[in-house]
Amino acid sequence: MNLLVTGGSGFIGSNFIRHMLNKYPGYRIINLDKLTYAGNPANLRDIENYPRYGFVRGDILEEAVVDVVMSRRPDAIVHFAAQSHVDRSIHSAHDFVRTNIVGTHVLLEAAKKYKIERFVHISTDEVYGSTDEGPFRETDILKPSSPYASSKAASDLLAFSFFKTFNLPVVITRSSNNFGPYQYPEKFISLAITNLIEDKKIPLYGDGRNVRDWLYVLDNCEAIDTVLHKGREGEVYNVGGGNEYPNIDIVTMLLDELGKDESYIEYVEDRPGHDRRYAVDTTKIREEFGWQPKRSFREALRDKIAWYQNNEDWWRPIKSGEFLDYYGKQYQNI
Ligand SMILES: NC(=O)c1ccc[n+]([C@@H]2O[C@H](COP(=O)([O-])OP(=O)(O)OC[C@H]3O[C@@H](n4cnc5c(N)ncnc54)[C@H](O)[C@@H]3O)[C@@H](O)[C@H]2O)c1
Repeated sequence: MNLLVTGGSGFIGSNFIRHMLNKYPGYRIINLDKLTYAGNPANLRDIENYPRYGFVRGDILEEAVVDVVMSRRPDAIVHFAAQSHVDRSIHSAHDFVRTNIVGTHVLLEAAKKYKIERFVHISTDEVYGSTDEGPFRETDILKPSSPYASSKAASDLLAFSFFKTFNLPVVITRSSNNFGPYQYPEKFISLAITNLIEDKKIPLYGDGRNVRDWLYVLDNCEAIDTVLHKGREGEVYNVGGGNEYPNIDIVTMLLDELGKDESYIEYVEDRPGHDRRYAVDTTKIREEFGWQPKRSFREALRDKIAWYQNNEDWWRPIKSGEFLDYYGKQYQNI
């Protein structure tokens, strides 16, 4: 199979590319990535010379670029490229609307033109909004809270409309919060771990009682792999780790693992519109395909901590700004 992966230099995309190339010796992958502040070629350093892997630096908003890549006739697209950080979307929604909605539209049009056999659209549980009770099912209405989540919801609907109107073979995954290696250190668990390694405090929003369901990124990669091969066209599949914890509990676990006390917690003013709890019902992907997360939360968390301890040369240049200076000066003011 020939795959086009968008946003493959980011956190989940890079883990997915590595997973696919190692698992399927016959597969070839082209990674189309703009290398925004969040895209990092170092995420794929170990496989960048594989003959079955090709990298194109380009923007999904540029139709001509997308057309050139599509003219190589991939069998399927796995679309990760997005602006992905909620706090940034609150600061400025512009790039989120452009990349997440308009960029997805450009890809859908190209997929239609080249009669792609499969379009896997990577979405998020945040499109459902917050829930105090019970998990969301795939058929529930979308009630996103942040500009990030609403731009993802809009792209889901657009993708679905291309299935309904043009029979484009779209499948959508909506996963809960991922964690694992190569996650940009602005995201909660990565920021917390790297701060503790740097002997700094962990900023914690509000009362710390917001609940997220954590999914180890490699379990998500297996779910996406499954949906790519077996997912039914026009369907949505929720993917969750079944690890619901209030943020304060995550912080407590990290303090415990890294031998620090509660003085390393710094309560900060809550994020506007901060969703209280996300939860997805994953019965559909479990029952249809037998997918389930393989790693226990605590074991995966320890792996992630160890990865950040052993890969300081990956995250320290990002946190210090050296990385931005090198790859994306224009993004420093986001
Ligand atoms: N991280 C999570 O917990 C999570 C959970 C659910 C869903 N998702 C979704 O998964 C996808 C990947 O998330 P992530 O955490 O890996 O994000 P990320 O921010 O780490 O990576 C995004 C990648 O997309 C690239 N990109 C951004 N704009 C682009 C453009 N215009 N053209 C080409 N490339 C562009 C970036 O350079 C980067 O490599 C996103 O669609 C996100 O909404 C993420």
